Amino acid sequence: MKIFLDTANLEQIKHGVKMGVVGGVTTNPSLSAKEGNADYEALSKQICAIVPGPVSVEVLVEGVEAMIQQGRQIAKWAPNVVVKVPSTAEGLEATKTLSKEGIKVNMTLCFSLNQALLDALAGAAYVSPFVGRLDDIGDDGMKLVEDIVKVFKNYNFSTEVIAASIRHPQHCIAAAKVGAQIATIPYAVLLQMTQHPLTTIGISRFLADWQKVAKK
Ligand code: E4P
Repeated sequence: MKIFLDTANLEQIKHGVKMGVVGGVTTNPSLSAKEGNADYEALSKQICAIVPGPVSVEVLVEGVEAMIQQGRQIAKWAPNVVVKVPSTAEGLEATKTLSKEGIKVNMTLCFSLNQALLDALAGAAYVSPFVGRLDDIGDDGMKLVEDIVKVFKNYNFSTEVIAASIRHPQHCIAAAKVGAQIATIPYAVLLQMTQHPLTTIGISRFLADWQKVAKK
């Protein structure tokens, strides 16, 4: 399973890339707004320049034609940019046109298997089921990811599944177990994934033991 960072923060992205584990980035208008940079294009281009993989940038408009026009513009910003479009009837139309033009689309805000099926049929390169937001309303977000992976396999769809709205390391483990191709995770979750108390204790003990001999 590939790990993408779900953030628009340049420092977080730089660190994740330096660690050698981040294969892409997903942003959304809320995450970009959090950075306080009103220049959406400049921020998105900066992110694309840092990341050695796909960077999803969401359209900021509604309506089929407007999404197509903005999607075409966004696609010109960098060779690794992926246009993010919502999983709606209008989003499907926009995705069909953009994908036929060779533009990669990540269909976002997916909350059902039917939406995912339609997203794939419309030509989406990626579909993003939102695990945490489904869990928040008492649903089972990871079950949806599992079902999508299964159905896409049944029909050999090339659309990749991005487990999104990830809240904690257990979500990551579960996404890998059910076969999601990608999990897009907050930076804090990435850091949590690196930690284990026995590793920390082990390092201290190894160094302390060596020091006992080195001091002699
Ligand atoms: C996915 O691409 C979205 O940016 C993201 O995962 C949304 O997650 P949230 O529920 O934490 O806002």
